[in-house]
Amino acid sequence: MDVKNTIWSEYPKLRASLIKVQKLMKQQVGIKNEDIKSAIFDLFDAGGKMLRPAYLLMFADFTTMDNKHKIALAASVEMLHTATLIHDDIVDQADTRRGVETLSKKYNPSIAVYAGDYLFVAVFKLLAKHSFNLPNLTKNIGSIERLLGGELGQLNKHFDFEQTMDDYIQNISGKTGELFAMSSSIAPLIMKQVHLSELAYNIGMDIGIAFQIMDDYLDYASNSETLGKPVHEDIKQGIFSAPVLFALEIDHEYVKALVQNEQFDEVYTFIQESGALTKTKDLAKDYTNKALRLINKLPEGETRNNLSSITRKLLERNL
Ligand code: IPE
Ligand code: IPE
Ligand code: MG
Ligand code: MG
Repeated sequence: MDVKNTIWSEYPKLRASLIKVQKLMKQQVGIKNEDIKSAIFDLFDAGGKMLRPAYLLMFADFTTMDNKHKIALAASVEMLHTATLIHDDIVDQADTRRGVETLSKKYNPSIAVYAGDYLFVAVFKLLAKHSFNLPNLTKNIGSIERLLGGELGQLNKHFDFEQTMDDYIQNISGKTGELFAMSSSIAPLIMKQVHLSELAYNIGMDIGIAFQIMDDYLDYASNSETLGKPVHEDIKQGIFSAPVLFALEIDHEYVKALVQNEQFDEVYTFIQESGALTKTKDLAKDYTNKALRLINKLPEGETRNNLSSITRKLLERNL
């Protein structure tokens, strides 16, 4: 097995741990149903970037948590992420993910729903075993609840032309920020390093927000071959992410009319030419810089340097 994200070749120790995480993820899929099992394995094998487990492992380096626990927790957050992607692709009616067909397309929507459900179960089994106590588990369940809240908040704002940038930030803080925050803070939380766990949570939140803004930037700046998933679908489904919100700020009536008339090509052109896309990247930079300032409060050393450099690289990512 290998990690497909080329970023990790520069961090061999982290890369070696991530390979162990992938192995454990597969071992956790104990379901008897072969269709569900191969559907889940297909998605694991297609290779995600493994960012959430990587952040978990890096923050765990500031604690004395043993390796076995770190790997198990890292596997649980990546499995949780994968479960949310499976369900997200059903909701978003996406045909591709990680460069291959989504489970709904390759199998059928029922298999996809159950595969996502099963992964959630596997996540809770791992979390229950490795959280040490109920308050820790409860805290992590709170993050998962807020993740869902972010998705539902987004759904509530469908085709809402009055949606503000604050609404958007609130929703992406939930749907993406929470999982990065949880991943970053979980090891310090379990090891009772309260101050570190709070700092890690805030850093993870800013990284997650920046990551989602970049994802929404790439939806307009990249293409489906590079990203391995559909582009330009959000706006058609009434999801107004940062590029659209900036475009609406620049010329509300014009952009609203284009969307209502389904003149999407004109919207894309306006987003590129009006400066809305540049503003989106700048917003991602702001959150990245916020994260980097907080990262500087962590103990000095190799892990802090890696956290900074990886977080910076996410701004330049093209997949
Ligand atoms: C995709 O996350 C969902 C978002 C939060 C934008 P990733 O881009 O981390 O997905 P994989 O795991 O690398 O496929
Ligand atoms: C991904 O959200 C799912 C979660 C963050 C829970 P999106 O729908 O915005 O991301 P992609 O573009 O499908 O990866
Ligand atoms: Mg989606
Ligand atoms: Mg979605």
